[in-house]
Parts: sequence; C-alpha cells; structure tokens
Amino acid sequence: MVELFIYFAANFFDMKLFTTVAELQQQLKQERGTGKRIGFVPTMGALHEGHLSLVNKATSQCDVVVVSIFVNPTQFNDLQDLERYPRVLDKDQALLETTACSYLFAPSVKEVYPEEDKRVFDFGQLDKVLEGKFRPGHFNGVAQVVSRLFSIVEPDKAFFGQKDFQQMVILKQMVRQLGLKIEIVPCPIVRQSDGLALSSRNSLLSPEYRKSAVLISKTLFEAQKRITTMSVEQLKAWVVETINADPLLEVEYFEIVDDVNLMPVLSWSENVSKVGCIAVYAGKIRLIDNISF
Ligand code: PAJ
Repeated sequence: MVELFIYFAANFFDMKLFTTVAELQQQLKQERGTGKRIGFVPTMGALHEGHLSLVNKATSQCDVVVVSIFVNPTQFNDLQDLERYPRVLDKDQALLETTACSYLFAPSVKEVYPEEDKRVFDFGQLDKVLEGKFRPGHFNGVAQVVSRLFSIVEPDKAFFGQKDFQQMVILKQMVRQLGLKIEIVPCPIVRQSDGLALSSRNSLLSPEYRKSAVLISKTLFEAQKRITTMSVEQLKAWVVETINADPLLEVEYFEIVDDVNLMPVLSWSENVSKVGCIAVYAGKIRLIDNISF
C-alpha cells in the first residue's frame, strides 16, 4: 500500500521543469544510464485533451516522458499567427502535473536556436502539397525544430497526432533521411463531443465562429458515408460547397490523397489508403482536420 502511494506520488506529482538544454540533457543522461526508455511529446503549448492523449500514450509505452513546450518561430509563415498563438505555461504545467509526465522542457528561442537555423530539408512532393502549398516554409521550420529537439532529447519514441496528418508523414520521412533510431508513434485525433477536432487555436474562436466550426467535422463524417454514391471529384466539390454555405467559414483546400505519399487520389478504386485533408478559415483563425476514407 505504502509502495503504491510512493509510486503514484513519484509519478504523478513530481514533474520537473527544465528551461535549459544542458540541465535537461544531464538529467536524461542519468535516466538513459539506468536503461530507461525515453518517450517524447513535442508541443507548442496551450495544451488540451488531444495533447494529453499523446502524453498518456507515451507514459504507457515508455519509462520516462519528456514533453516540450516551445512556440517555434521558424514554422510560422504568418507573423500575426505567431504573435496571436496562445501562451499559458502555468496552466499547461498544472495540466501536465495531472499526468505521469516526468519532465517538461520549456526553452527560450535562444536555447533552441543559439544560431540561426539555415538548414533546408528536401522532402520531395511531401511538403509541396496540402498545407505545404498554402504555408510555404512551414514544414521546413517544423523539421528544423523537431530535428533539433530530437538531438537534445534523443528519445526512443516520439508521439505525434494524426490531427496534423501531413506533419506526421513528413517527420517519418525526416527520421528516415537523417537515419535516426526514433520510432514515430501516430496517435488518433481527439475531438470535442460535437466533433470539432481539438486545437490550441480553438480558444481563439469567438462563440459564433466556434458554433459554425462544427460544420467542418460534421461534413467530413457525412462525406465518409457518400463514397458509394459520389465520385472523388463530386465528393470534393460537395464538401467545399457544404462548408462554404456557412458565411462564417471559408475552405482553403480539401484534397483526398494517398496517406503514404500524399498524392491526389482520382478514383475510389485506387488500391491505397485514402485520407481527406481540409483547411478552413473561421474568420481569421485557420483550422485543419482530416478523415480517412
Ligand atoms: P501542436 O500544435 O502543439 O501539437 C503538438 C502535438 O499534438 C502534435 O503532434 C499534434 O498533432 C498533436 N495534436 C494536436 N491536436 C490534437 C488532437 N485534437 N488530437 C490528437 N493529437 C493532437 O504540432 C505542433 O504543435 C508543432 O508543429 C510541433 C510538432 C510541436 C513542432 O513545433
């Protein structure tokens, strides 16, 4: 009984916060030295149940879990989006303390980038389509920060949400290209009870926009049912029209792609797993979601 209490106390109330690379690495070196398997969950903070599902999966598969909170400037192609991005470290820390997360790493920009990162990654077509088409440079910034964080944390496993489907595909490719021994673990999308995919940006939606935003997932779920009666082209047009019928929403793109190489699917008969990816503006707030077909 006493052991059980000590176990829970040690695991649930003892998360340490690090802000420097040196201190975190020193701690992780000790953990690695005793054979602990390290799990890593990179985030930009403003944590919600989606992030926590990654943390919980990580703690169930690894001995030690590091969560990073870092709003990475190099992946924002829109300065206003970067400035507007919610920053609530105290709240995030309190939330993480309810999980079995071991270490929170919340570094400054200088700590992550002592010098400007000028690396340019080549992901072929993977970062030219979908988000990559509308957010030039975004995935290069994501690859810069995640590769940097990987070299700091040196995890055995890293956990990413399928909410950012293209990001996950690109990071798997990055791990292959850099020859890293890190397993990328995909985690399912967590939604609110009305279907809206959880996102840190949802907190920026006014009540009216929040109400409208539910139409995104509602339409994607309905689309899943229509694949027997509509062609790929017809379904794509239907999704865009249905969402755009709400004056508060504007679709930026909706594409149905092969979930491995992200190339467009032209017919349901193609023998590949398919995913429909969407980006929608709800006023100034850009929301993404996806669904498998
Ligand atoms: P962020 O948007 O904070 O997301 C951190 C992780 O949480 C990502 O892997 C994302 O896919 C996952 N996530 C977000 N919402 C989710 C949801 N509703 N269900 C399941 N998982 C969800 O993605 C980033 O940060 C950054 O690009 C990062 C990888 C940290 C690099 O800066």
